[in-house]
Amino acid sequence: MDLIEITGGNPLEGKIRISGSKNASLPMMIASLLTEEKVELSNIPNLSDVTTLIELMKSLGAAIEVDQTSDFGGKMTCVTKNILYTEASYDLVRKMRASFWVLAPLIARYGEAKVSLPGGCAIGIRPIDFYLSILKRMGVTLDLKDGYVYASVKSRLRSINFTLDFPSVGVTHFFLMMSSLAEGESVLKNAAKEPEVEALAEMLNKMGAKITGHGTNTITITGVPSLTGTKVNVPPDRIEAGTFAIAVSATGGEISLDSVNSDEIDVLLNVLEQSGVEISRSKKNLKISADRKRNSPVNISTAPYPGFPTDLQAQFMALMAIANGTSVIKETIFENRFMHVQELARFGANIKLKGDTAIIEGIERYNSAPVMATDLRASASLIIAALSAKGKSTIRRIYHLDRGFDKIEKKLRSCGAVIERKED
Ligand code: UD1
Repeated sequence: MDLIEITGGNPLEGKIRISGSKNASLPMMIASLLTEEKVELSNIPNLSDVTTLIELMKSLGAAIEVDQTSDFGGKMTCVTKNILYTEASYDLVRKMRASFWVLAPLIARYGEAKVSLPGGCAIGIRPIDFYLSILKRMGVTLDLKDGYVYASVKSRLRSINFTLDFPSVGVTHFFLMMSSLAEGESVLKNAAKEPEVEALAEMLNKMGAKITGHGTNTITITGVPSLTGTKVNVPPDRIEAGTFAIAVSATGGEISLDSVNSDEIDVLLNVLEQSGVEISRSKKNLKISADRKRNSPVNISTAPYPGFPTDLQAQFMALMAIANGTSVIKETIFENRFMHVQELARFGANIKLKGDTAIIEGIERYNSAPVMATDLRASASLIIAALSAKGKSTIRRIYHLDRGFDKIEKKLRSCGAVIERKED
């Protein structure tokens, strides 16, 4: 298994092009299965989550071609004339929770599906109760046995009005896909407003769906009998952009981020400014400058969009652990998303946990350390700590990192980081 070795202490200086969004690519790729026509997606990031999903989509009968040779994003074409197999196996679904969403095109187009219960990052209980309620209300018969969801429906899906107890991103994607092919008008209340939901809704509309209200908490969808092919560009990854912004805030230096949607990480940029970082923003570019003084502590609480993203919580904690004072971070989305705390402690961080809250006493500087990645975004927090630590650190279990960060070593190396991937 590979590990990453980082010799920390260098400021980051340079320019980074932000890749296409992982969390937009995955639902957009799955939406390609909703039509028998050709779908072309560009700006697909080169990630193991994308590869896993391609494998799963091929196993269902999709003909997929991928070109990941360009530094300016990959291209994928997908034609699914017929869904040939309706089973999404444990082996493919356990690696990534988003795989579970293939249930939507399978049931909407074929009326039958056997999908393994989802896996993904171990960051909480992550139930599927909202998905199951929606399926049942839309007329789908369900049976849960041997770790699989067996679903079938005899006629077209029924349209429904549904209110989410929590604005779940995945469930909103799922609802959009299901109701686009259902009979009649469906309404989703307390829907997620994340930019990835907007990207999916816009893609579905280009395919002939009739969706309004995406980006607000009430989405209305009028079902159509079938969808057409389309050509779409995946929007930039706001979590990747935010991660690099936090990294330079920790190491000092100046980086310019190209191909970003600055507005989407406004809440993070405001917090970084409060902590003493200088940021100049235009719509598609960000320049982040940080001197090598310690940042001021800032308290945050994660929240659904447009609040502080849970996917940047671990990275921000890595920055606050070397801030000049005490900060408090509250995690409100996932109940077990603090696994990075024990690994940050190996670098010398002083963090105490009390339920959903972390109290962080900033230390002067990180020591280098051998650490282990525990989940996708946590692995980025360890990279940030290692980049700012004095000396050589090693990060193991980096397959977590490869799920969601496109060419991260190459991008950091181009900004002066001493980072290498090695065989363990
Ligand atoms: C997506 C993102 C993930 C991000 C998360 C929250 C992708 C591929 N992943 O994950 O990176 O961290 O949104 O922004 O886009 N819940 C239920 N019942 C359900 C479904 C969800 O209680 O049926 C709860 C979850 O346990 C969690 C909360 O809803 O506490 C939010 O989860 P959700 O928004 O669904 O996360 P994902 O879509 O899995």
